[in-house]
Amino acid sequence: MLAVDSTGSVLADSLTIHPSSSPKPGWSEQAPEDWVTGTMRGIRKVLGHPDVDAEAIAAIGLTGQMHGLVALDEARSVIRPAILWNDQRSAPQCLETEASLGLDFLLQHTGNRMLPGFTAPKLLWMREHEPDALARIRHVLLPKDYVRFRLGSELAMDVSDASGTSVFNCGKRTWSNSMLDALELPESWWPDVAESSEVIDALNPQMAEELGLRAGIPLVAGAGDQAASAVGTGIVEEGIISATLGTSGVVFASSNTWRTTPEGSLHAFCHAIPGTWHLMGVMLSAAGSFDWFGRSVLPDVMQEAEARGDDPWDELCTRAATIEPGSNGLFFLPYLTGERTPHVDPDARGCFVGLSPTHDRNHMTRAVLEGVTYGMRDCLDLVRATGVHAEVIRLSGGGAKGAMWRQLCADVFGCRTTTTTSTEGTAYGAALLGGVGGGLWPDVPTACNKVISERDQADPGEACEAYERLHHRYRDLYPALHRWWSAK
Ligand code: XUL
Repeated sequence: MLAVDSTGSVLADSLTIHPSSSPKPGWSEQAPEDWVTGTMRGIRKVLGHPDVDAEAIAAIGLTGQMHGLVALDEARSVIRPAILWNDQRSAPQCLETEASLGLDFLLQHTGNRMLPGFTAPKLLWMREHEPDALARIRHVLLPKDYVRFRLGSELAMDVSDASGTSVFNCGKRTWSNSMLDALELPESWWPDVAESSEVIDALNPQMAEELGLRAGIPLVAGAGDQAASAVGTGIVEEGIISATLGTSGVVFASSNTWRTTPEGSLHAFCHAIPGTWHLMGVMLSAAGSFDWFGRSVLPDVMQEAEARGDDPWDELCTRAATIEPGSNGLFFLPYLTGERTPHVDPDARGCFVGLSPTHDRNHMTRAVLEGVTYGMRDCLDLVRATGVHAEVIRLSGGGAKGAMWRQLCADVFGCRTTTTTSTEGTAYGAALLGGVGGGLWPDVPTACNKVISERDQADPGEACEAYERLHHRYRDLYPALHRWWSAK
């Protein structure tokens, strides 16, 4: 939660963690009510900051995790806990649908493959496993849209988030009746869609009173977390690509024309700016791999760094920097939790390849960083193959904080990298969308150009050539191991 003023300065922020539950392996659920109470707590907290004037709030913009299924009944009450973006239970329904309708049909009508994280396959799962609950559904929303509904009164979605439902024609920016018919899902369940910076609702009087805000504050459609993060880091025109090194890794490119990839290997979604789209590759364990490695293999090193008052991740990067590029022949495959891009493969797993007695923990640390960065390069190559080229790649997420990993990105991507002045990408993007809807800026690109600038530039260095070759070696590993992973 951020309060941002008309110069783009962050006046106040707050963070609320929502618990999630995993009733069975591979399942992931949250209670939508927790998002509402968390939002209310966050709003109250930022309003408590002396620099924030409740009377001056021009609009509220929203963002949230994508793909989550919020199923509502006739009375618009939540039917069951939301099934989240990282829930894998609908994998069989996705396989069956892709087999029965064919990939070409899906790409033609949505622009995308059907993945277990997406929304509609969760409904197909409910049809098989929770038919009574499914029979009560009258409306489907995504997480941030449920929060907006509770702040205002309307059921609605924005085009960027609707793109991840598997029943949205992203090229045409409208629901796909062909997909809905093919899946036998009622059209009436899906709400009106709007462009991300459009005002589509207003703060209702009861919420206004509870929050200490004036009723009627415009509520802006907002965007899915990835599109909002792109707005928050200024990825709003073709030629700038972002690479986010968070738990997952995302390569995100804005596109002025509607493009898809032949096999649907990149997500092709609507962007948060009218008339633009984005291509996106998602690695499931990016900085998450580094985090796993540090915590499980080098806890002593991390604890010592912490005891000295140093950042433990910096310490790991400093140690990795003592090793030559290529980690002396050691490779790490970052598929700890399966993979989405470039390989849609829930069975893939992480591994070190090429270990010898010459390797120590520092080699392994560097190999992990390199492996994740090669995976991001795989996503980048798919983007480049669509004809979208980058002059600069903007890095964000926890992994972009250290200079060593930023330089590694420049070397492996073969492209200049920078970071941006906005460190809270996703929530900041939502605030900018809110500001555009509230009339502070005429449009999203203008807002971004005014308030976001680049810093921490790194250019490809001497290691770039070696990494070109090493990335090719890395790419050969997945096909070699795929058969082994998939043999049960
Ligand atoms: C995007 C995606 C994630 C989730 C959770 O496709 O799955 O960004 O929205 O952050």
